[in-house]
Amino acid sequence: MTPSREAGDASAAALAAMAHAYAPYSHFRVGAALRATDGTIVAGCNVENAAFPSGTCAERGALAAAVATGHRDFDLLVVATDAAEPTPPCGMCRQALAEFAPSLPVVAITLAGKRATWVLSELLPQPFTPASLTHT
Ligand code: THU
Repeated sequence: MTPSREAGDASAAALAAMAHAYAPYSHFRVGAALRATDGTIVAGCNVENAAFPSGTCAERGALAAAVATGHRDFDLLVVATDAAEPTPPCGMCRQALAEFAPSLPVVAITLAGKRATWVLSELLPQPFTPASLTHT
């Protein structure tokens, strides 16, 4: 089954997290849900800050919550927004996700029902990896 067809629970979790986004500055609300290989779904939302660079993205929020609860192996990411078009993770989130799941299927959905899918390795074809640190 394709990731988009089996993404129902993770999509619901991403949309639910989006509703909790704290985005008073950009008004761009994002929810993300990572599915661990044991089926556990962990969500995050963007959390902005008056000191703008201190804000965090939904995807890295989900990743931090997942790792903190013992999950490091993932088989799906769903990103939910109310943008006109589905949006992929930002560059920093791509790098953070690649540490754990370089071939992660990524599904982006919108409130209006649009959907796009990618594989993380096509969004970030040349990640800096743990192995890169050994190439000294
Ligand atoms: N944002 C995310 O949460 N994920 C992304 O992949 C792109 C951007 C957030 C950061 C900021 O709070 C708002 O969206 C606008 O950039």
